[in-house]
Amino acid sequence: MTKVLVIGSEGQLGQDIKSSHTVINNCNFHFTSIESLNVTDQQAIKNTIEADNYDYIINCTAYTAVDKAEEETILANEINHIALKIIGEVSASTNSKVIHVSTDYVFDGKQHRPYIESDDTCPNSVYGKTKLQGEQELLNSNSNSIIVRTSWLYSIYGNNFVKTMIRLGTEREQLGVIFDQVGTPTFSNDLANVILHIINCDIDQSIPFSSGIYHYSNEGVCSWYDFTLAIHQLNNISCKVLPIETKDYPTAAPRPHYSVLNKGKIKDIYKIQIPYWKDSLKKCIKELNS
Ligand SMILES: NC(=O)c1ccc[n+]([C@@H]2O[C@H](COP(=O)([O-])OP(=O)(O)OC[C@H]3O[C@@H](n4cnc5c(N)ncnc54)[C@H](OP(=O)(O)O)[C@@H]3O)[C@@H](O)[C@H]2O)c1
Repeated sequence: MTKVLVIGSEGQLGQDIKSSHTVINNCNFHFTSIESLNVTDQQAIKNTIEADNYDYIINCTAYTAVDKAEEETILANEINHIALKIIGEVSASTNSKVIHVSTDYVFDGKQHRPYIESDDTCPNSVYGKTKLQGEQELLNSNSNSIIVRTSWLYSIYGNNFVKTMIRLGTEREQLGVIFDQVGTPTFSNDLANVILHIINCDIDQSIPFSSGIYHYSNEGVCSWYDFTLAIHQLNNISCKVLPIETKDYPTAAPRPHYSVLNKGKIKDIYKIQIPYWKDSLKKCIKELNS
């Protein structure tokens, strides 16, 4: 029977993988949380991976507090970078295939067309730099690894932009939201299904596990301002949303102004159709309100 280890299963993506994992038949999933596997403990990573003969490892752990990472650089580095070196080394020795998730923040956002996988990276935050180093460790290891870069992830689980905008929209009469940062939201449930699809295709041998970097987000493009308007509209929230510039909302970590990802590679190789961001947002909000 196929065995899959999911690390960091209590985060947004981890929980979505947990709730959808039964789409793969005859497969044994083992889910770890920060309590059962803390990835800052290198020996624990080794012990967990070596404890069973895992065919696949999905890494959903990350230090995702983008602004806090500017101060907590050591911890961000341990989780986003060093842990990947160990996961890469150990999974190469156990012959486990790895699916790891990375971010649009590996780019500086100065481009004016959607980023392809081979575009030059140039992260402008500690979060982005450590995530890029994690990617490089995995690529430089002898492991058979797929890295999926995604953007603006939200889900029905945990805290995220969608939930924050619903809360602020109901608490306030007026809200300023940035309109000069453009990207694409990604419903974590869609990403989880793609990750499971990649594994399923390898198991049934329809599409072999093709290592390398892939970009995945929902379809379309918007600013945080547009995203907020859609969130409020779908929730019948009447708060007035004002478009503001990045310079009027200073944050510890700079964000890319443009981080739209080109998803041509994953669509071609894995034969997938990607939902439009507003359609997926509707699904999320329907689930949140049900
Ligand atoms: N969120 C976004 O907007 C976004 C955008 C682009 C890319 N991504 C990437 O997408 C992936 C999934 O993101 P997400 O939003 O699902 O993240 P998330 O909700 O923050 O989940 C990350 C998980 O990692 C766990 N974790 C943190 N430190 C750990 C440690 N030392 N050992 C073990 N587990 C640890 C967290 O546990 P605790 O909650 O207990 O700390 C949490 O369960 C990440 O690789 C992220 O970099 C996210």
